[in-house]
Amino acid sequence: MGELPLLARITARQQQLHDSGLLRQRRLMDAATAATVTADNANLHNFASNDYLGLSRAPQVAAALFAGAQQYGVGSTASPLVCGYSSAHQQLEHALCAATGAEAALLFSSGFSANSALIKTLFNGDDTVVADKLVHASMIDGLRDAKVKLKRYQHNDLAAAERLLSQGKVTALLTETIFSMDGDCAPLHELAALCQQYDCPLIVDDAHGFLLADTLQVVPFARLITFGKTLGCQGAAIVGSQQLIDFLVANCREYIYSTALSPACCVAAQQALQLATEPPLVAQLQQNIALFRQLAQQAKLPLLASASAIQPLLICASEQVMQVAQQLRERGFLVGAIRPPTVPQGSSRLRITLSAAHSTTQISALIAALVEVLADAG
Ligand SMILES: Cc1ncc(COP(=O)(O)O)c(C=O)c1O
Repeated sequence: MGELPLLARITARQQQLHDSGLLRQRRLMDAATAATVTADNANLHNFASNDYLGLSRAPQVAAALFAGAQQYGVGSTASPLVCGYSSAHQQLEHALCAATGAEAALLFSSGFSANSALIKTLFNGDDTVVADKLVHASMIDGLRDAKVKLKRYQHNDLAAAERLLSQGKVTALLTETIFSMDGDCAPLHELAALCQQYDCPLIVDDAHGFLLADTLQVVPFARLITFGKTLGCQGAAIVGSQQLIDFLVANCREYIYSTALSPACCVAAQQALQLATEPPLVAQLQQNIALFRQLAQQAKLPLLASASAIQPLLICASEQVMQVAQQLRERGFLVGAIRPPTVPQGSSRLRITLSAAHSTTQISALIAALVEVLADAG
């Protein structure tokens, strides 16, 4: 296909995706509340977002965004090294350090760019990097761009990770904390101990675990935090040692050549961080997760072993997962339908995400709809 002229290549690729049932398309979704969304004039209960604490709609966060825009401007107007780095950025960095115990932090406009930029800046073709088989696309893209020698171990398999580390000459080990598609948690303490034993820096993508799971007990070489999930905002940070952050400021092309994160977003994220660290929201989310799992177990739904807000239900075939998601939608529920290449062939799934903003009525109604739809699907 690479030899076709460009437009013919694009057309052929789209046709191929369409024919295999894997063509991705957007749909308009307007959030009505933190737990509902309007699409095609229908109101849907939203079990597909990563707004785990419902902070995307918190009035205090919206007020902080407005106040931040008034004080510092909507846009940062330049890259951080020119004139785009303000007190709003610095204060958020300090707050993230206080929350994580890290020495220093650096802000990016998205978790994807932070992850791939970190990896591209740290490694090159002489490096061997060990990574969990399921690390996020943003890490994989960074590793590919850096042309590192990548060795992957079976998901969460400590013995396999150790085998790779023991072969020597490993520059770093990469893992997520809570895995985005499976919802399970890496054995972080054990991985940290292994890394210490083999003198290997540990890099963790804490996009889905930050403040929600026991991930801060481990102090890695570098940690990615995204603001678009637990904090309900936008943007991301790398936290680590002062030496690491100074190195990134001086060498990371995405940081140097890109307009800094909006200062208004920094003020909003700082407010969200404060709300997220106060107990009631996380406790409410934990209650919702427990209720969902209890009802799903009673109904014998095909749950995976996840204790997090990400609760996948394995459906296996990609056409079937799309059908089941569509039938749920007709009953008023929006859930993620995840197919290859995001997950391995034969492991398509519904990705159901819980939020502190869900009511018990919404959760019970979702379980009832799942039971009905999965019984129909046979
Ligand atoms: C594990 C993981 N890392 C990184 C990212 C990228 O973060 P962002 O959405 O802020 O670009 C995501 C987003 O889905 C993710 O799931």
